[in-house]
Amino acid sequence: MLELDYTNVLESVVHAHGIPKIAFDKAADSSKHIVDDIQRAHTSGEIGFGDLPSDEKTLKTVLDFARSHSLPNVLLLGIGGSALGPAALDAALNHSTSGRRLVVIDNIDPDFIRDCLDSVSPRETIVNVIAKSGVTAETMATFAVVRQWMNEALGQAKARERFVVTTDPVKGDLLGIARQENYQTFVIPPNVGGRFSVLSPVGTLPAALMGFDVEALMRGARTAAMQARKPFYENPPLVAAFIQFVLERERNKRILVLFPYSQALWKFAFWFKQLWGESLGKKLDRRGQEVYYGQTPTAALGVTDQHSQLQLFIEGPNDKAFLFWDVKEFRNSLPIEHPFSKFDSMDYLEHKSLADLFRAEKQATEIALTEAGRPNATVRIDSVSAEALGELFMFSQYFTAYAAEFYDIDAFDQPGVEYGKKLTFAMMGRPGFADYNRKIEEIRQRGRAIVR
Ligand code: PA5
Repeated sequence: MLELDYTNVLESVVHAHGIPKIAFDKAADSSKHIVDDIQRAHTSGEIGFGDLPSDEKTLKTVLDFARSHSLPNVLLLGIGGSALGPAALDAALNHSTSGRRLVVIDNIDPDFIRDCLDSVSPRETIVNVIAKSGVTAETMATFAVVRQWMNEALGQAKARERFVVTTDPVKGDLLGIARQENYQTFVIPPNVGGRFSVLSPVGTLPAALMGFDVEALMRGARTAAMQARKPFYENPPLVAAFIQFVLERERNKRILVLFPYSQALWKFAFWFKQLWGESLGKKLDRRGQEVYYGQTPTAALGVTDQHSQLQLFIEGPNDKAFLFWDVKEFRNSLPIEHPFSKFDSMDYLEHKSLADLFRAEKQATEIALTEAGRPNATVRIDSVSAEALGELFMFSQYFTAYAAEFYDIDAFDQPGVEYGKKLTFAMMGRPGFADYNRKIEEIRQRGRAIVR
């Protein structure tokens, strides 16, 4: 069961940079409406991420499809919320012995795409094109390139059978193309936004194709969704949201460092960065007032970044909150046995294990940050399993949604991202976006400040 250890954000521990116990007690009362509001939004169908793990019908369709497609490679074409979740699942659950590869093409750098295509055989590959909007320039362009590559290798008819599309059920050109080409399609419910869609077929289909235990993933997600509806002191995402809200607003912790002590959770940190950044980085609050909210998420990897960023974290500006992602049990322990006992730097390690060293280093980092008055909390899961991943994803989504309630902002829109998409359409000559050209021209006319 997922747990949140928030000892090191208490005022009694990190002093002026922490939060007094009394503030938690007050929040336990004042935040009751937050759980109810998010619950009500689910019941009314306004939002849908919390209901995804209970959608047994969709899960069955996904599993049936995956069972009938046993190719070893999956090429995933998507970006943002349509790529980061599956990439996180793959990084956590795919082991070198699985014989399956998920290649996530979430960038349009042509050299990167060429290398991705050269790394798999089209004959042994299924292509999953994912876009909620069904119009994202990067995904549509990559789809065209990959379609051509598949057609050349397999012929149009055979290639067509290898494409599967995940998109909105009623709108978007990708849906139109899928229908025209007779591609199998999976649906992202309209009330589930990109960055909240990992437990829809966006994540479950690639996970099932990779052979991960998707039923366990959903079971974990259901457990976390139930936890998220409990009273304050039994509700990890609500307590976590309250903590970050107070640290950011009242203790000036404008940066949130996501610090997994698990290589398997490194990509999960990238998924979380999008969720936190796009959901909470907002110019306007719900009343339309300019607030410019948002805590900047960044990632550090234990232990690797102990030898890179930790000096800054401990002695640099105290403007960061830290969130460790910790794992109780690793799949391996790897004993350290050696004949070098007369060498001090090796002697003390003998008969310990790499897992012991890893745990000790996490604790050492935690203690060093705490001593320096840097507020830090730990989200702990039992092991890196599909079930625990489900808990982590669902916990994180409620954590983010609840944080937005504390800020009184909309977690589910992304006007900044949409504006960038429109400028791209205009620059690339897509009809209907000519209005943006004036702005682009104006900026192009500006003198450049360049030094050579
Ligand atoms: O969270 C979001 O809505 C966005 O970040 C999207 O995931 C991203 O822009 C990709 O959009 P789409 O799935 O429509 O291609």
